[in-house]
Amino acid sequence: MTAASKAAARAAVVCGAGAALPPHIIMNAELTARLDTTDEWIRSRTGITQRHVAGVDLSTTDLAARAAAQALADGQPVTVEAVVVATTTPDRCCPATAPAVATRLGLTGVPAYDLAAGCTGFLYALATAAGLIATDTARTVLVIGADRLATLPDPEDRTSVPLFGDGAGAVVLRRGSTDEAGALGPVVLGSDGTGADLIQASLPGTLHMDGADVFRHAVDRMSTASRQAATAAGWDVTDIDRLIPHQANSRITSFVARQLGVPDDHQLGNVGDVGNTGAASIPLLLARSAADGRLGPGHRTLLTAFGAGLTWGATTLTWPDLSLTRLPEGAGHDR
Ligand code: UT7
Repeated sequence: MTAASKAAARAAVVCGAGAALPPHIIMNAELTARLDTTDEWIRSRTGITQRHVAGVDLSTTDLAARAAAQALADGQPVTVEAVVVATTTPDRCCPATAPAVATRLGLTGVPAYDLAAGCTGFLYALATAAGLIATDTARTVLVIGADRLATLPDPEDRTSVPLFGDGAGAVVLRRGSTDEAGALGPVVLGSDGTGADLIQASLPGTLHMDGADVFRHAVDRMSTASRQAATAAGWDVTDIDRLIPHQANSRITSFVARQLGVPDDHQLGNVGDVGNTGAASIPLLLARSAADGRLGPGHRTLLTAFGAGLTWGATTLTWPDLSLTRLPEGAGHDR
């Protein structure tokens, strides 16, 4: 086997997807009762109508383990050899979330670690999982994005409270070939610490965001990263059948789609039903869309995200046939 064919046989291939949302839903109307805001403002400026919020009895570890269990149950049968959890809201600073999730799933002993890259965390986690596979550290990796962002803002802050929700999403990656459906393309990642103050949260404490500035950066960075990821994969942006952008605000994702020239019906979203779920956003949307058929086998799919750091990223894959049968718990869909 040549070095090139060896590398081609160590691609990371998606073979399962799952999601979990807390059962408790907070509608906009509930927020308007205690904040100086309106349902109309929240809907028209963000696209959000409701968000799922975890109570004290549902931790980030719980959500991550539920999403992962569904990804494993609904995908092709595999033996997981590593677990990566992307989160900015771990239950504790130390230890990391991933070892606890691995143990819950009966995977005690496998390498397991967290990483934090804001709302881009899931794409960073995909890249590191692909690295674990390429280096033969693991043949199968569970990649989870899980966050509990709903309670991070100051409860009086009308500019942030309506935006965030809680949830988790997961995919299973296995070793495979670059030419098969599900193989991840090159992952484009970036960061800019000069924008660190634009979205920040201290522990314990509250989240602060300069919304308008973040909005502009988000559109710009996701559009550029998407073009770069498409080019790196050998695609033209007109090849994109499904655009899966991080769900922060439907106006942001519409701008990104417009800048890329991706038609509206090729862009998937669920921010209306779940709000901004941080690192969970992309895998939650992937699992939901795959389950309801909006994302189907053969769709050339581009994932892109932007978040605190600042961080951003994008990657491509042709969606595989996962034969998903169940819908993620309570997950909704905008279009
Ligand atoms: O996951 C990645 C990180 N997060 C994001 O990507 C979020 C990015 N930013 C956004 O989504 C938007 O900037 C927001 C939704 C946060 C804000 O929307 P905007 O259209 O950029 O509004 P703005 O910040 O420019 O504020 C416009 C006005 C302000 O009032 P004045 O100064 O014009 O009198 C705000 O005080 O809207 C006011 N406002 C509200 N009014 C009613 C802000 N939040 C609210 C609210 N209800 N909830």
